[in-house]
Amino acid sequence: STDDRISRISSSIRVIPDFPKPGIMFQDITTLLLDPKAFKDTIDLFVERYKDQNINVVAGIEARGFIFGPPIALAIGAKFVPMRKPKKLPGEVISEEYSLEYGTDKMEMHVGAVKAGERALVVDDLIATGGTLSAAIRLLERVGVDVVECACVIELPELKGRDRLGDKPLFVLVS
Ligand code: PRP
Repeated sequence: STDDRISRISSSIRVIPDFPKPGIMFQDITTLLLDPKAFKDTIDLFVERYKDQNINVVAGIEARGFIFGPPIALAIGAKFVPMRKPKKLPGEVISEEYSLEYGTDKMEMHVGAVKAGERALVVDDLIATGGTLSAAIRLLERVGVDVVECACVIELPELKGRDRLGDKPLFVLVS
């Protein structure tokens, strides 16, 4: 059942206290990847949700959106577009700033990777404050893409990241 699959996925995620800084409980999805059934169930649950929604772009956020995004894209017949940290993409880029706990960071996407009117799903492993996903949404919407939904394996609900996405739907497997 779906609940059994979610339980297995949830149990396969390792929590590492005080990484990368004291007080942070790091949600480590590398242990999920070591369990082929949990990994497959993760992808299947997303594919079941998105296969009939005419999504033609899966935008994956560096770094762990590059693990979950591509298998979803292949299964639903969409292209995969990497949303990267600054100065990683070789072609012409558009970029969007977003705030971190201290300071700001930037996300970049290749110009021409997506077109106005295309339908996108944004994929990452985890939503915390929502700053990263909201930057990805802005970047795609700036070029006229319709962002249908954001999908993450894990949500940290106490950080209220969902509120930062406005009315954009967010789908998560584990809270
Ligand atoms: C983590 C996570 C998300 C982001 C979520 O990435 O994989 O991309 O933080 O945080 P937010 O909702 O508060 O914006 P991280 O910053 O660790 O970068 P990395 O994937 O390159 O390791």
